[in-house]
Amino acid sequence: MVLAASPYFFPYPDSVQLGPLKLSSNLFLSPLAGYTNLPFRLVVREIGGVGLCTTDLVNARSLLERRPKALKLIETRPADAPLAIQLFGAVAEEMRDAAVIAEAHGAVSVDINMGCPVKKVVKIGGGSAMMTELAKTAALVRGMVNAVKIPVTAKMRLGWDDDNLTAPELARALEDAGVAAVFVHGRTREQGFGGTVKLTGIRKVVEAVKHIPVIGNGDVVTPQAAKRMFDETGCTGVSIGRGAFYDPWIFKRTLEYCQGSPTATGRPLPPEPSFAERVRVLSRHLDLMIEVFGEELGCRMFRKVAPWYAKRFGPCHEFNKQVVQVATRVQFQEILENYLRWRQQFLDANGELQVRYQPAPLVASFMRAPEENLPVQIAVPKGPVEVW
Ligand SMILES: Cc1cc2nc3c(=O)[nH]c(=O)nc-3n(C[C@H](O)[C@H](O)[C@H](O)COP(=O)(O)O)c2cc1C
Repeated sequence: MVLAASPYFFPYPDSVQLGPLKLSSNLFLSPLAGYTNLPFRLVVREIGGVGLCTTDLVNARSLLERRPKALKLIETRPADAPLAIQLFGAVAEEMRDAAVIAEAHGAVSVDINMGCPVKKVVKIGGGSAMMTELAKTAALVRGMVNAVKIPVTAKMRLGWDDDNLTAPELARALEDAGVAAVFVHGRTREQGFGGTVKLTGIRKVVEAVKHIPVIGNGDVVTPQAAKRMFDETGCTGVSIGRGAFYDPWIFKRTLEYCQGSPTATGRPLPPEPSFAERVRVLSRHLDLMIEVFGEELGCRMFRKVAPWYAKRFGPCHEFNKQVVQVATRVQFQEILENYLRWRQQFLDANGELQVRYQPAPLVASFMRAPEENLPVQIAVPKGPVEVW
């Protein structure tokens, strides 16, 4: 794809086509193992603005063996559409057959994980290791593409390290093998989640492919960051992961921001959700967790979800201290009521959080001036997924 040399040239694309699949928005929910489960996807969809959600990565062999864990990861319902299932594995036949299962299950596309730096994935030749073996990977992809009617996409990082930025070459080879789109996290495997997302790296992938859409990814935590990624890379879509934990409203606000007409004073930024709205959605999230996982497991899983919402509440240590022990729906209600009482001390006469207690705005790594040289500010969730 040939791009104009100047940034800020691209008109904002308002839909995206993955092969035969037309999506109503070009904003995507990134797969986040342990988080992008059915309840979270439903929360995001109910708020709106997202074009396609993806499951956590699913081990192809586990899916073939119909392991309960794999089946739970692909659990869905009509309100959870359109849905992509992300697969990982290095055995071509297993990936092919798992893609067939995903299609039969109702997925509108299958995504291949090529960018996962977790040791257990790299060890078996999947994830980032795939980026170093082009011919073998292209053959694996071709087998999947030929086996299903739905589009097959691939998600990658820029490469192994700064000396091996293989993503453009890989994207081109995958396009020839039949993938309908590529998702690119603008960091190398070596970077992990540190350093800056390199928009120039994503742009090189856009320039390398002939026709397929390239979806940019990494550190998009505000509508302005999404727009910067569109403008500077020429990508067709933007995929958002951790930004959606902080803020499931990010898709809706980004669409409004990018599609809105600029005024003399610039592009109007849609307002942040109110505190009451944040609490409403948090409670809805718990209800969905309980519906899908049962009260005991749902509450336990919710212990790592609620503190992400609380990061945007202002002072929240009283809430976090208690919510990480929540065991029932009734108990959550008590925790919330206690917190609302405690939080009053930080409010002004109008019931709004006093300015000095408001959380600092989130800033994507690539939106900071180089001289700022600040530590990475966007949190990476703890737990079994620490090594992502
Ligand atoms: C907790 C966690 C789990 C992740 N799980 C997956 C996964 O299952 N598959 C995948 O391709 N990427 C996974 N990623 C990477 C994200 O999809 C995304 O590429 C990365 O977080 C950068 O985007 P973000 O800054 O918008 O979060 C994960 C990232 C995190 C933080």
